[in-house]
Amino acid sequence: MIDASIQVGKKKIANRVVLQPMEGCDCNMDGSPSGLTIDKYLKAARSGAGVVWFEANAVCAEGRTNPRQMMLTKDNLSQFQALLRQMREIASNECGISPIFILQLTHSGRQSMTPMIAYRHPLYEEKRPATDANIVTDEYLDTLPKKYAEAARLSMAAGFDGVDVKSCHGYLFQELLSAFTREGRYGGSLENRARLYLDCVREVKKALPADALLTTRLSVSDMVPKPYGFGTTEDNALDLTEPDMLIERLAKEGIQILNVTVGNPYYNPHVNRPYRKGGYIAPESPKAGLERFEYIEGHIKEKFPNLTVVGSGLSYYRNDLMEQSERQLCEGICDMVGYGRMWLAYPTFYRDHLNGALDPKKCCLTCSKCTELMRAKQVSGCAVFNEYYRDLYKEIQK
Ligand SMILES: Cc1cc2nc3c(=O)[nH]c(=O)nc-3n(C[C@H](O)[C@H](O)[C@H](O)COP(=O)(O)O)c2cc1C
Ligand code: SF4
Repeated sequence: MIDASIQVGKKKIANRVVLQPMEGCDCNMDGSPSGLTIDKYLKAARSGAGVVWFEANAVCAEGRTNPRQMMLTKDNLSQFQALLRQMREIASNECGISPIFILQLTHSGRQSMTPMIAYRHPLYEEKRPATDANIVTDEYLDTLPKKYAEAARLSMAAGFDGVDVKSCHGYLFQELLSAFTREGRYGGSLENRARLYLDCVREVKKALPADALLTTRLSVSDMVPKPYGFGTTEDNALDLTEPDMLIERLAKEGIQILNVTVGNPYYNPHVNRPYRKGGYIAPESPKAGLERFEYIEGHIKEKFPNLTVVGSGLSYYRNDLMEQSERQLCEGICDMVGYGRMWLAYPTFYRDHLNGALDPKKCCLTCSKCTELMRAKQVSGCAVFNEYYRDLYKEIQK
């Protein structure tokens, strides 16, 4: 099943494997891929995955989390074109496939270098303080659909097959979804809170040719109590009433692939990436997190059978990964399976699996040292199995 192709819109995807977006914070200062970025993506090209979902790419300079975030512009377009050409060549020669490349378009909002927040959030501001002066104006938000459309046009010129209008993990669009307390056109009702996200999806669709893929990565629930989180009750229980309404709108606007994620890694990292090791003590068992993912994905697949659903959070399963993935696909919980930390740790895991040679010793430990590197404002990669990042991790420990 995992190796079966799938048709989405006008694109045929070679298999069900998605390499999830994994930010490296390692681009050149102009947002173009550096040697480290290129090294990571050439490994992705060799993986045999049907989809390589590129990391968060800022649509504007002020929306970057760090000065080395990926940012495709007309000035560095040729570097992206060269990278994608090389990746296609490698995938064709070494794996005999033509993978689908999706670029994730983002504005980092509260996590931008200077916080650009949707509203004052008492829980998030315990971790990163902000003031009223950091609240973005409606006039500023009005300018973003054009920027997303421009980024989508550039993505096509670079050779991507589709784009992701990202709304997850507490970044700008996701925070707006819980802007119950914000005044004006972007706060209060769901219509207002989802306005910018849907406007951008619409503008991006207009900017794309008919054969390109229109996708989104959505935190279906923040798992932060209402009124400071989306898709939850005041008691912080999962509530899919509003997410269902939103997904219905997204499907009507032409979203073809929904990459499901949950939570905000700056606030409740265990929700998005269940842990096996590392110093962080999660307030719930990994099993509860994994069951939540499956419940949400299965619910969406049942309600919106025409959407192609990508599942997340699978790296936790380590050497049971492929068995669990097959099960989820066979049970119809999702159509494609996404791997984040696993591909950083062990980029050839899928090819090795196909050859009957998956090596349990190389599987990701789900320790999230890669996230610790990011949070320490370093470049990010696997700090366990890759010597370069391991040395860097030792440095930050000192
Ligand atoms: C170092 C690191 C960087 C990440 N970068 C992104 C990103 O750019 N965009 C995104 O949507 N998710 C990002 N994520 C989340 C992953 O795509 C994925 O959802 C998460 O790691 C859970 O999946 P896993 O258990 O397979 O790792 C990142 C996660 C990590 C650990
Ligand atoms: S540091 Fe490596 S082993 Fe640990 S979670 Fe990240 S990718 Fe996995």
